[in-house]
Amino acid sequence: MALRSSYRTPFSDRSIAVSGTGIRLTFKLFASFLSVAVFLLLALSFLFTSSSDPSDLSVGNSHDLYRGGLRRSVLALKSDPLKPRLDQIKKQADDHRALALAYASYARKLKLENSKLVRVFAELSRNFTDLISKPSYRTLFDSDGNSMNEPVLRQFEKEVKERIKVTRQVVAEAKESFDNQLKIQKLKDTIFAVNEQLTKAKKQGAFSSLIAAKSIPKSVHCLAMKLMEERIAHPDKYTDDRNTPPEFEDPNLYHYAIFSDNVLAASVVVNSAVKHSKDPSKHVFHVVTDKMNLGAMQVMFKMKDYNGAFIEVKSVEDYKFLNSSYVPVLKQLESAKLQQFYFENKLENATKDATNMKFRNPKYLSILNHIRFYLPELYPKLHRILFLDDDIVVQKDLTGLWKIDMDGKVNGAVETCFGSFHRYAQYMNFSHPLIKEKFNPKACAWAYGMNFFDLDAWRREKLTEEYHYWQSLNENRTLWKLGTLPPGLITFYSTTKPLDKSWHVLGLGYNPSISMDEINNAAVVHFNGNMKPWLDIAMNQFRPLWTKYVDYENEYVQACNFGL
Ligand SMILES: *[C@@H]1O[C@H](CO)[C@@H](O)[C@H](O)[C@H]1NC(C)=O
Ligand SMILES: *[C@@H]1O[C@H](CO)[C@@H](O)[C@H](O)[C@H]1NC(C)=O
Ligand SMILES: *[C@@H]1O[C@H](CO)[C@@H](O)[C@H](O)[C@H]1NC(C)=O
Ligand SMILES: *[C@@H]1O[C@H](CO)[C@@H](O)[C@H](O)[C@H]1NC(C)=O
Ligand SMILES: *[C@@H]1O[C@H](CO)[C@@H](O)[C@H](O)[C@H]1NC(C)=O
Repeated sequence: MALRSSYRTPFSDRSIAVSGTGIRLTFKLFASFLSVAVFLLLALSFLFTSSSDPSDLSVGNSHDLYRGGLRRSVLALKSDPLKPRLDQIKKQADDHRALALAYASYARKLKLENSKLVRVFAELSRNFTDLISKPSYRTLFDSDGNSMNEPVLRQFEKEVKERIKVTRQVVAEAKESFDNQLKIQKLKDTIFAVNEQLTKAKKQGAFSSLIAAKSIPKSVHCLAMKLMEERIAHPDKYTDDRNTPPEFEDPNLYHYAIFSDNVLAASVVVNSAVKHSKDPSKHVFHVVTDKMNLGAMQVMFKMKDYNGAFIEVKSVEDYKFLNSSYVPVLKQLESAKLQQFYFENKLENATKDATNMKFRNPKYLSILNHIRFYLPELYPKLHRILFLDDDIVVQKDLTGLWKIDMDGKVNGAVETCFGSFHRYAQYMNFSHPLIKEKFNPKACAWAYGMNFFDLDAWRREKLTEEYHYWQSLNENRTLWKLGTLPPGLITFYSTTKPLDKSWHVLGLGYNPSISMDEINNAAVVHFNGNMKPWLDIAMNQFRPLWTKYVDYENEYVQACNFGL
């Protein structure tokens, strides 16, 4: 009965248009076997004893069941046994042809990565049709039954069986991938529903809950506060050394850039990277945070020994060149701040305007998100640097990245497109003439999170100017909406070098069906998505990948009750 279970599940999971065909066929198949099959097979059991694998056809069981004394009388009733046998084979061929067609249509509906499956199923179906209409077999159907050529019939049966076997194999393999995609689809639907609710909440003035959902949870906040208290109580312990260690600027070492306002997340990134580096004393981590979290970061990274790794903690405000006369985003944020000021005094109007409300989300306001576009100026002495988001975990030694031939490109990143998804068209406004003229809407997008930057190539290509040009044009947000990925895709268009996907596995903050093999094999895993590992809503199966790098022995971490 493998046949039945193998193709019934996906159809019953989701009642879509094709389901009727599949299920109806199943029952038809069985109903007709109780009548036809009993007759034929039993009548013909003497022929079937020589057939290669009767269980391959669903009638195998009834064959066994009725094998006894009925045979002779049935035989006596039937004058030509070959005709019904032919009909039965043909029927099975037809049923499997319809099954393949149904799956092709099912795959087409799921769209995602199934275009190959669509083709395979369509071909399977066509192969059944071709087989039935082969001239040598057509003669079987044209004969009156008495003069049927039995060797041809046997050959026909053999070929049908072979195709049925292939069909079932493909169905069994496809089923797994279909189930996963259904899960993803369901998740997407859920996320979409949540977003809808948030939009509604916003419109109703409940915007603060949105900010709460996006910002730092209580326990991380507690940690930052406690660290800050420590910093204030013992200022001498944490004063900046006047002279920076030469390693911070030594281009022969391995340099990392981490921009974060989350103390715990930043420490997990550094802990995991140090843990897996073969020689920590060759690694330099440049942590940049905001004024508010500077003290906490300084204390956090002073409390522990990193086996010789170097850690620089700075505030974005320390970099004077990042001012609104130079940085378009700051200029735009300043005017956004004016808007914010304006709206804060007129709350009633503010809650009605969803677009402007977005500017009040700290995430979008923060310059910390945008300083990734100033790496060559932040680190003028360096030739190359690895940019890491604060929601990643390092699982391997990463020095191999420095050995990759960048082919003169600037940004080494993993690509994220599949099928029609994650193409440039989804990230920017192709109705805008400037975008349309310059970019290919089908170009493959890549991901931020772990990006290897060749700073010399960046300087040579003058990409900061390129970025400024586009960012200034986007003052009114007509080229793209928010975030750093669209301007990144624009700035590094044609200067991105695709990295092997195992360097950076994404989706641990939203996609429950990433395979554990893929995760275990990854150099870096990325909790992009809403279900961050430091939040209650984190996915249980992925959270340990992150928590194992939390400093539980740190007294402040303990004091802040991480229910991790
Ligand atoms: C269809 O038939 C051709 C020729 O017999 C064969 O090469 C091909 O693999 C078959 N396709 C599928 C999907 O089984
Ligand atoms: C802003 O930055 C530019 C260089 O990027 C610098 O010349 C200028 O002095 C800065 N302005 C202020 C007020 O710091
Ligand atoms: C809200 O906006 C409308 C039109 O833009 C204006 O007439 C009204 O005075 C504003 N309300 C407040 C409280 O500012
Ligand atoms: C943005 O809109 C304002 C007011 O509508 C306009 O003055 C300005 O030129 C626009 N900026 C750009 C870059 O299109
Ligand atoms: C896209 O660009 C066109 C042309 O400038 C503009 O009319 C339209 O409003 C833009 N779309 C969005 C969503 O900003």
